[in-house]
Amino acid sequence: MELEQLDLAETAASRKHEADAPAAKKVFVKTYGCQMNVYDSQRMADALAVDGYAATESIEDADLVLLNTCHIREKAAEKVYSELGRVRALKAERAARGLETVIGVAGCVAQAEGREIIRRQPAVDLVIGPQTYHRLPEVLRKARAGEKVVETEYAVEDKFEHLPMPQRSAIRGRGVTAFLTVQEGCDKFCTFCVVPYTRGSEVSRPVERIVGEAERLAAAGVREVTLLGQNVNAWHGEGPDGREWGLGRLLYRLAEIPGIARLRYTTSHPRDMDDELIEAHRDLAALMPYLHLPVQSGSDRILKAMNRRHTAADYLKLIERIRAARSDIAMSGDFIVGFPGETDADFEATMAIVRATNYASAFSFKYSPRPGTPGAEMDGHVEEQVKDERLQRLQALITEQQHAFAEGLVGRTISTLVEKPGRRPGQIVGRSPWLQPVIVDEKAGEIGDIVDVRITGTGTNSLFAESV
Ligand code: SAH
Ligand code: SF4
Ligand code: F3S
Repeated sequence: MELEQLDLAETAASRKHEADAPAAKKVFVKTYGCQMNVYDSQRMADALAVDGYAATESIEDADLVLLNTCHIREKAAEKVYSELGRVRALKAERAARGLETVIGVAGCVAQAEGREIIRRQPAVDLVIGPQTYHRLPEVLRKARAGEKVVETEYAVEDKFEHLPMPQRSAIRGRGVTAFLTVQEGCDKFCTFCVVPYTRGSEVSRPVERIVGEAERLAAAGVREVTLLGQNVNAWHGEGPDGREWGLGRLLYRLAEIPGIARLRYTTSHPRDMDDELIEAHRDLAALMPYLHLPVQSGSDRILKAMNRRHTAADYLKLIERIRAARSDIAMSGDFIVGFPGETDADFEATMAIVRATNYASAFSFKYSPRPGTPGAEMDGHVEEQVKDERLQRLQALITEQQHAFAEGLVGRTISTLVEKPGRRPGQIVGRSPWLQPVIVDEKAGEIGDIVDVRITGTGTNSLFAESV
């Protein structure tokens, strides 16, 4: 019944599309940063499709160029300005041919810098923060009428409720895996991080919206759904039973949806891993045994300065509980080296927590002071060269663990979701339960199938397999 209603809405939307759209305009979206930006870019494209914009892969053909930006580290933010320089040149070329090009900046740099972006790059026509995407069509109309528009007010409403749902054809075009944002924003205020300022305070989407969207994805052939949130395990909402649900309960509900064979969620905070969520890892076959749980540092002193509000021992104890519930779970994490005040001993504590946890994969970064965050104001900034050395040592250790994890899979039979054709004829690429690409003979299965394959070897980031 729900799906039928969705279909009617879809037909109405495409009729409106046919009637209103004179000549199709084209939009090129470039996405930086985290998975949430990937999801947001898709939802913006969906909203623009209703207004007659078709997505294009070629920036030269685009009537609208949208950069969906990231502000997490200085390098990420600065990249946007060099890209804008190139887009400006393109706009001038197109103008010489009598073509209009609107340049828009969305995402976390848009939220953090607002009008400053237009001051630094006057070719930009519109700036739109991540909380206001539902106003994109209106903002775009103003920009096309010649106004420079900056829209960065925090929305009081759930922005997704006002954005059109993706069309079935759009979902199909994106493959058999999909992201679904369930929670946005952050109230944790780690002292290094811009996210609480760029994404605002924590908002959880209602259960029925999430279930409805997951059902829609499943009906269009999606087999694996990754729930997204800056603090995804802080998600909570009122369930249909009238009780307060946490992420664990939501996962039990989503696992019931026919067609959805695999579930994941990211990114979690150690403080929000509650019992029910850990039990979900024990009970749900659909919940993949892979958990991204950043700890950032292994030093209690640094964890305190970072305002993480837990100790290294708390983290290790938590991992023990998670592994007791699901013994084959593979851990992933994020680390920052060179936070202000970090000594050699603090860094050794980080190396120690990495050894103790044994990660299947992990990401590590040099601390980057961000304007407006408490960390930027702290004493004891670490020299760049020291940061470089620490990063190198940490990354070598992580790479070693990652390879050992992959090597341990050789000879084993594992389940793989077939995702797309491979680069070589006769090959297909699947995805392991632990997120590695799996390269296997095309006879192994069709796209969307979940098949058992035997791992025969490892590449830099992928696994090689044969069908069984
Ligand atoms: N919400 C997630 C991650 C947010 S950003 C969490 O709570 O863990 C992704 C990663 O970028 C962080 O985990 C952290 O390791 C890194 N990061 C964030 N701010 C940073 C900064 N100022 N300098 C360097 N790395 C940073
Ligand atoms: Fe940033 Fe910390 Fe919030 Fe993660 S929990 S988004 S690192 S402030
Ligand atoms: Fe970057 Fe914003 Fe995501 S700062 S990491 S795009 S939440």
